[in-house]
Amino acid sequence: MCGIIGCVGCGDGTLSTLMHGLSKLEYRGYDSAGVALVGAGGLRVDKTAGKIEALESSVADRDDLAGTIGVGHTRWSTHGPPTDDNAHPHRDCSERVAVVHNGIIENYQSLRDELAESGHDFDSDTDTEVVPHLVEAGLDAGNDPETAFRDAVARLEGSYALACVVEGTETVLVARNDSPLVLGVDDDATYLASDVPAFRAFTDRVVYLEDGDVARLTPGGWSVTGADGELREPAVETVEWDAEDTGKSGYEHFMLKEIHEQPRALRQCLRGRVDELGGRVTLEELDELDVDRAHLVAAGTSYHAAVYGARLLRADGVPAQAFLSHEYAVAPPPAGEATVIGVSQSGETADTLAATRTARRRGAETLALTNTVGSTMARECDHVCYIRSGPEIGVAATKTFAGQQTALNLLAQHLSDGPVDRELLAALRDLPGDVQTVLDGTDAEAVAETYLDGDAYFFIGRALQQAVAMEGALKMKEITYKHAEGFAAGELKHGTLALVTPDTPVVAAVTGDGEPARKTVGSVKEVEARGAPVVAVTDGRSDVERYVDHVLEIPETHPRTAAILANVQLQLLAYHTAAKLGRSVDKPRNLAKSVTVE
Ligand code: G6P
Repeated sequence: MCGIIGCVGCGDGTLSTLMHGLSKLEYRGYDSAGVALVGAGGLRVDKTAGKIEALESSVADRDDLAGTIGVGHTRWSTHGPPTDDNAHPHRDCSERVAVVHNGIIENYQSLRDELAESGHDFDSDTDTEVVPHLVEAGLDAGNDPETAFRDAVARLEGSYALACVVEGTETVLVARNDSPLVLGVDDDATYLASDVPAFRAFTDRVVYLEDGDVARLTPGGWSVTGADGELREPAVETVEWDAEDTGKSGYEHFMLKEIHEQPRALRQCLRGRVDELGGRVTLEELDELDVDRAHLVAAGTSYHAAVYGARLLRADGVPAQAFLSHEYAVAPPPAGEATVIGVSQSGETADTLAATRTARRRGAETLALTNTVGSTMARECDHVCYIRSGPEIGVAATKTFAGQQTALNLLAQHLSDGPVDRELLAALRDLPGDVQTVLDGTDAEAVAETYLDGDAYFFIGRALQQAVAMEGALKMKEITYKHAEGFAAGELKHGTLALVTPDTPVVAAVTGDGEPARKTVGSVKEVEARGAPVVAVTDGRSDVERYVDHVLEIPETHPRTAAILANVQLQLLAYHTAAKLGRSVDKPRNLAKSVTVE
């Protein structure tokens, strides 16, 4: 979704601080961007369609763009196409007020009609533009900027993270409802952003705002009032990761870096949670959690983790089902006694929040399985389990999916009444090293090169590898823009086989030597007979190699961890295909990392 940055107290460095923040937030949206600064020269705005680089060249040509406070925005369009006019910040008629916004103002049309009737002119198609005009109306009525802003916010329905600057003041005014906003506090400066990476280079002290909060950032510091209008004293927390964690560390793309970070990320996820000698999995944070049955709700990649996790839970004796969160929110199944588990790397996905909120309204206990400390889901749910993957910037989720898979293994064992699976504990111990083995020995790049001209890619797998097949296809389509489908191998002959030709590579995840593997080998023979090239991701325990054109190997391991290792090969296959096709790997067209609108 959109990214917001703001700062007070950065003096001459205001513009560069905003531009730095935008570059760190670009993963949230990247179809247009802009900045507004207020200083002695008044209110100055620059904004343009296109990626941050377009804004960078535009601001470089402006010598009047100066100020001591400012806000910036990178956009993922919801209302109106990505044009210069629709880019944020938006201004009022008199150009005294500038506003940046993330979210959707649901009643914008009636507000716009009302404002237009009283003489306000609008320049954009956006819902956001009503906000500066509402503030302007308040200023014209003789109110001070803060009152005008608060009154404007009180008129809004929908979701918003808002930041507003007014000419002649040294204050950034901020409001949050259903859209993430966090303050960064330092001795001399205060920052605000949609996400911590935007200002992590400047401070590690953060304040997570709550829904209904209005904050005021001034050169003297910051203050927050809650939904009741009373001053609040929110906790100042410390971020545990470094600014370098949000850089590329020499890799060509964030996605490749994040794929390679998986051994470390999984080590972090497992740290202190697996006692192999004692034969125990301990998730201390979930000691109070008792689950009779579970509904896992998620979207995108996280849904695939949920499908995988639900199978683990069922196998460990907990009836569990995975649901697409957007469907769960509108058509929830009978609640029963189910604990609802929101699986979301960001903890901010509107669809998944809608599902966990539906669950809470119905009285269900909720658990957030997320990567993001302080995220809305983490704060709203009754329990939280962090996957500890570290910041993920590439839009296509990689290390967070592996982190979710790993944490779901821990959760399933933690909730199981049966004996602990010691072989699984050993496999989890070896998992980071096994992922490293895959990374070091993969042939994914050569395979990718061979099939760049494929018409479509089909991914198949059975049992736990079904979720991996779905995720492999999603990765492929997200970043290569090639058609890809992933499904249970058994479904192939019920429809998709009609599409299989010599120009449709089929990627089969075949691990172990049990029934799922044997039957998937059967599916491989079916596509091979139709002339499709086949790539097998395998540990070599079946005879699938005999029927395929390429093998992507993984080490022998437990069936559950095999699904994590197989996925690493599919991540690499998608990555190299996209890189060779020259796609925008980290910021694929039309997508955003954190979708905070339903
Ligand atoms: C967006 C992203 C996907 C992600 C999905 C769910 O669509 O582009 O990569 O899987 O949101 O995100 P979450 O943060 O809830 O895991």
